[in-house]
Order: sequence, then structure tokens, then C-alpha cells
Amino acid sequence: MNNEPARVLMVCLGNICRSPMAEGIFRKLAKDYGLTVEVDSAGTSDWHAGEMPDRRAIATARRHGIDISGHRARPFSRADFDRFDFIFVMDRDNLHEVTRQARNEADRKKVFMLTEALSPQRPVSVPDPWFDDALFEPVFQQIQAASEAWLKKWIAHPEMMNTNRYSHD
Ligand code: 4NP
Repeated sequence: MNNEPARVLMVCLGNICRSPMAEGIFRKLAKDYGLTVEVDSAGTSDWHAGEMPDRRAIATARRHGIDISGHRARPFSRADFDRFDFIFVMDRDNLHEVTRQARNEADRKKVFMLTEALSPQRPVSVPDPWFDDALFEPVFQQIQAASEAWLKKWIAHPEMMNTNRYSHD
């Protein structure tokens, strides 16, 4: 088995609500499961570049023992296809936007709806909580369940962790 860590990028629109929570959750769960995973996050927009996560996202994660306050938002870029093996998007808009930037089939194969591990036939979107304070906790729970499903898959099939590792050199 290859011991390279899986490199995971979480993607949403602003990179201040969903994907920073997803980054923190995935990193913590991977550690709990004893898997070596590198995790980062980015947004399909540059609207909040350089900003801290939304205070509601920070508070929600903190309630669950996860500190995401150190993250700074950044836009997704094509170079991320080279730097990551799995690109987990939160919703269909993100899926469309990231897939549009894929340069080839190898890039496209790295892109998944985050919830795909929970409901492969019909992956649902993680809703944008920006306009609804009450959505932060359920969004956290949804991201946590989906992240756990991916990690359980990888524990059952460790080879999956490296299937998307291609060199573009
Ligand atoms: P996120 O949430 O994509 O989960 O980070 C949003 C944050 C900001 C905006 C939209 C969604 N916005 O319109 O500025």
C-alpha cells in the first residue's frame, strides 16, 4: 500500500462558511481515525479572499471542539488540481464551476460532491447558510456525516485514498 497522504480540498462559494468548517471537520475526523490526510479549503469566488471564516462558522465549529479561526479565505485556482487528490464541493453550483475549470479527464475525476459518499445515486447539496443563522448547525452535522462516510470508505478500501494521485509533470 502506498503511504502517501490523501490531499483533500473542500470547496464552497465564499470559503468563509461551509468549506472552512468542512476543512476543520475532515482534519479532526481523519486524525481520530488515524488516517494521514492533508486538508485545505477554497472558494469558487474571490469575494472574501483574505478574510477569516464567518463568525457563525467559527462559533459552530468551536462548539464542537474545532478551531477554524486561523483559516484565511482564498479563491480556487486551476493549480489546485495539481495540489489535491480529492476536491469535495458543497453544492451543484460549486460542482459546475470547479468542473468547468478542469483541464482534462484526470482533473474532472478528482471532483466529487461531498455528500456523494452518503448518497452516491443522488448526492444532495450542502446548503449555503450565509442568509440563515439556523442553518449553521445542521450544515455542520451534514458535513460531519458526509466526511465520516468518506473516511470509513477509505478505511475499508485504503487504495482509494491514492486513486486520484496523478502527476501532471
Ligand atoms: P460559503 O457561504 O460559500 O459557505 O462560504 C457564503 C459566504 C458568502 C457569500 C455566499 C455564501 N456571499 O454572498 O458573500
